[in-house]
Amino acid sequence: MFELKSHSYASKREHYEDLAQQARGLLAGERDLIANAANFSALIYHSLPEVNWAGFYLYDGSELVVGPFQGKPACIRIALGRGVCGTAAQNRETQLVRDVNAFDGHIACDAASQSEIVVPLVKADGSLLGVWDVDSPVINRFDEDDRVGMQALCAVFMEAVRG
Ligand code: SME
Repeated sequence: MFELKSHSYASKREHYEDLAQQARGLLAGERDLIANAANFSALIYHSLPEVNWAGFYLYDGSELVVGPFQGKPACIRIALGRGVCGTAAQNRETQLVRDVNAFDGHIACDAASQSEIVVPLVKADGSLLGVWDVDSPVINRFDEDDRVGMQALCAVFMEAVRG
Protein backbone atom coordinates (compact mmCIF):
# COMPACT_ATOMS: atom_id res chain seq x y z
CA MET A 1 0.00 0.00 0.00
CA PHE A 2 1.22 3.52 -0.78
CA GLU A 3 1.26 5.84 2.24
CA LEU A 4 0.94 9.57 1.60
CA LYS A 5 3.40 11.51 3.72
CA SER A 6 1.92 14.22 5.87
CA HIS A 7 4.78 15.85 7.77
CA SER A 8 5.64 19.51 7.33
CA TYR A 9 8.59 20.66 5.23
CA ALA A 10 11.21 23.34 5.83
CA SER A 11 10.62 24.77 2.36
CA LYS A 12 8.53 24.31 -0.77
CA ARG A 13 11.62 23.09 -2.59
CA GLU A 14 12.17 20.38 -0.03
CA HIS A 15 8.51 19.38 -0.37
CA TYR A 16 8.78 19.15 -4.15
CA GLU A 17 11.99 17.11 -3.91
CA ASP A 18 10.26 14.69 -1.60
CA LEU A 19 7.20 14.57 -3.86
CA ALA A 20 9.41 13.77 -6.87
CA GLN A 21 10.88 10.87 -4.94
CA GLN A 22 7.40 9.65 -3.95
CA ALA A 23 6.25 9.95 -7.57
CA ARG A 24 9.26 7.92 -8.75
CA GLY A 25 8.34 5.15 -6.31
CA LEU A 26 4.64 5.28 -7.15
CA LEU A 27 5.18 5.03 -10.92
CA ALA A 28 8.16 2.64 -10.89
CA GLY A 29 7.69 -0.53 -12.90
CA GLU A 30 4.50 0.61 -14.64
CA ARG A 31 4.40 2.06 -18.15
CA ASP A 32 0.63 2.32 -18.63
CA LEU A 33 -0.16 5.97 -19.33
CA ILE A 34 -3.65 6.07 -17.79
CA ALA A 35 -2.67 4.13 -14.67
CA ASN A 36 0.33 6.35 -14.01
CA ALA A 37 -1.56 9.55 -14.83
CA ALA A 38 -4.34 8.59 -12.40
CA ASN A 39 -1.94 7.80 -9.55
CA PHE A 40 0.20 10.86 -10.25
CA SER A 41 -2.89 13.12 -10.07
CA ALA A 42 -3.98 11.55 -6.78
CA LEU A 43 -0.50 11.92 -5.26
CA ILE A 44 -0.18 15.60 -6.12
CA TYR A 45 -3.78 16.57 -5.36
CA HIS A 46 -3.64 15.02 -1.90
CA SER A 47 -0.12 16.27 -1.08
CA LEU A 48 -0.21 19.95 -2.02
CA PRO A 49 -2.09 22.51 0.08
CA GLU A 50 -4.69 24.88 -1.43
CA VAL A 51 -5.32 22.94 -4.63
CA ASN A 52 -8.83 22.28 -6.01
CA TRP A 53 -7.99 20.49 -9.28
CA ALA A 54 -4.97 18.52 -10.50
CA GLY A 55 -4.90 16.50 -13.66
CA PHE A 56 -4.08 15.88 -17.28
CA TYR A 57 -5.33 17.03 -20.65
CA LEU A 58 -4.07 14.63 -23.31
CA TYR A 59 -3.48 15.60 -26.95
CA ASP A 60 -5.50 13.42 -29.33
CA GLY A 61 -3.81 14.70 -32.47
CA SER A 62 -6.12 17.66 -32.93
CA GLU A 63 -7.09 19.02 -29.50
CA LEU A 64 -6.69 18.48 -25.74
CA VAL A 65 -9.07 16.00 -24.10
CA VAL A 66 -9.44 15.72 -20.33
CA GLY A 67 -7.58 12.73 -18.87
CA PRO A 68 -7.12 11.37 -15.35
CA PHE A 69 -7.61 14.05 -12.69
CA GLN A 70 -8.68 14.78 -9.13
CA GLY A 71 -11.22 17.50 -8.41
CA LYS A 72 -14.62 18.49 -9.76
CA PRO A 73 -15.77 17.44 -13.26
CA ALA A 74 -13.99 19.58 -15.85
CA CYS A 75 -14.28 20.89 -19.42
CA ILE A 76 -13.72 17.95 -21.77
CA ARG A 77 -12.08 19.39 -24.89
CA ILE A 78 -9.78 22.39 -25.24
CA ALA A 79 -8.46 23.61 -28.60
CA LEU A 80 -4.74 24.36 -28.93
CA GLY A 81 -4.16 28.03 -28.21
CA ARG A 82 -7.31 28.35 -26.09
CA GLY A 83 -7.28 28.99 -22.33
CA VAL A 84 -4.29 28.41 -20.10
CA CYS A 85 -4.02 24.73 -21.07
CA GLY A 86 -4.25 25.36 -24.81
CA THR A 87 -1.68 28.16 -24.54
CA ALA A 88 0.80 25.90 -22.69
CA ALA A 89 0.25 23.19 -25.30
CA GLN A 90 0.72 25.53 -28.25
CA ASN A 91 3.69 27.51 -26.88
CA ARG A 92 5.20 24.50 -25.11
CA GLU A 93 5.97 26.73 -22.16
CA THR A 94 4.80 26.44 -18.56
CA GLN A 95 1.99 28.92 -17.86
CA LEU A 96 2.04 30.34 -14.32
CA VAL A 97 -1.16 32.34 -13.90
CA ARG A 98 -1.29 34.21 -10.61
CA ASP A 99 -4.85 35.47 -11.20
CA VAL A 100 -6.99 33.61 -13.72
CA ASN A 101 -9.40 36.55 -13.91
CA ALA A 102 -6.59 38.58 -15.48
CA PHE A 103 -5.72 35.89 -18.08
CA ASP A 104 -7.39 36.68 -21.38
CA GLY A 105 -9.28 33.60 -22.53
CA HIS A 106 -9.06 31.62 -19.31
CA ILE A 107 -11.56 28.73 -19.35
CA ALA A 108 -13.41 28.56 -16.03
CA CYS A 109 -14.24 24.90 -15.36
CA ASP A 110 -14.69 25.53 -11.64
CA ALA A 111 -15.62 29.06 -10.58
CA ALA A 112 -13.61 28.51 -7.39
CA SER A 113 -10.29 28.46 -9.31
CA GLN A 114 -8.31 31.68 -8.87
CA SER A 115 -4.78 30.75 -9.92
CA GLU A 116 -3.34 28.02 -12.08
CA ILE A 117 -0.15 26.41 -13.35
CA VAL A 118 0.04 24.35 -16.54
CA VAL A 119 3.11 22.40 -17.70
CA PRO A 120 3.33 21.12 -21.31
CA LEU A 121 4.23 17.44 -21.65
CA VAL A 122 6.51 16.89 -24.65
CA LYS A 123 7.68 13.40 -25.64
CA ALA A 124 11.30 12.49 -26.37
CA ASP A 125 10.53 12.59 -30.12
CA GLY A 126 9.31 16.18 -29.77
CA SER A 127 5.60 15.43 -30.13
CA LEU A 128 2.99 16.65 -27.64
CA LEU A 129 1.56 14.21 -25.06
CA GLY A 130 -0.64 16.83 -23.39
CA VAL A 131 -0.48 19.15 -20.38
CA TRP A 132 -0.42 18.86 -16.60
CA ASP A 133 -2.79 21.37 -14.96
CA VAL A 134 -3.12 22.37 -11.28
CA ASP A 135 -5.70 24.90 -10.06
CA SER A 136 -6.01 26.70 -6.74
CA PRO A 137 -8.89 28.55 -5.07
CA VAL A 138 -6.30 31.08 -3.81
CA ILE A 139 -5.00 34.03 -5.87
CA ASN A 140 -1.22 34.00 -6.28
CA ARG A 141 -0.94 30.40 -5.01
CA PHE A 142 1.88 29.45 -7.41
CA ASP A 143 5.37 30.95 -7.65
CA GLU A 144 8.74 30.17 -9.22
CA ASP A 145 9.35 27.33 -6.74
CA ASP A 146 6.10 25.76 -7.95
CA ARG A 147 7.15 26.18 -11.57
CA VAL A 148 10.49 24.43 -10.93
CA GLY A 149 8.86 21.79 -8.71
CA MET A 150 5.98 20.99 -11.09
CA GLN A 151 8.36 20.78 -14.05
CA ALA A 152 10.56 18.34 -12.11
CA LEU A 153 7.49 16.25 -11.21
CA CYS A 154 6.42 16.20 -14.86
CA ALA A 155 9.91 15.05 -15.86
CA VAL A 156 9.52 12.12 -13.44
CA PHE A 157 6.13 11.34 -15.02
CA MET A 158 7.43 11.52 -18.59
CA GLU A 159 10.40 9.31 -17.70
CA ALA A 160 8.04 6.72 -16.15
CA VAL A 161 5.77 6.52 -19.19
CA ARG A 162 8.74 6.91 -21.57
CA GLY A 163 6.62 9.55 -23.25
N1 SME B 1 -8.65 26.70 -16.69
C1 SME B 1 -8.16 25.86 -17.75
C2 SME B 1 -9.19 24.83 -18.16
C3 SME B 1 -9.04 23.54 -17.45
S1 SME B 1 -9.62 23.56 -15.90
O1 SME B 1 -8.97 24.55 -15.08
C4 SME B 1 -9.57 22.06 -15.18
C5 SME B 1 -7.77 26.69 -18.95
O2 SME B 1 -8.03 27.89 -18.99
O3 SME B 1 -7.19 26.12 -19.86
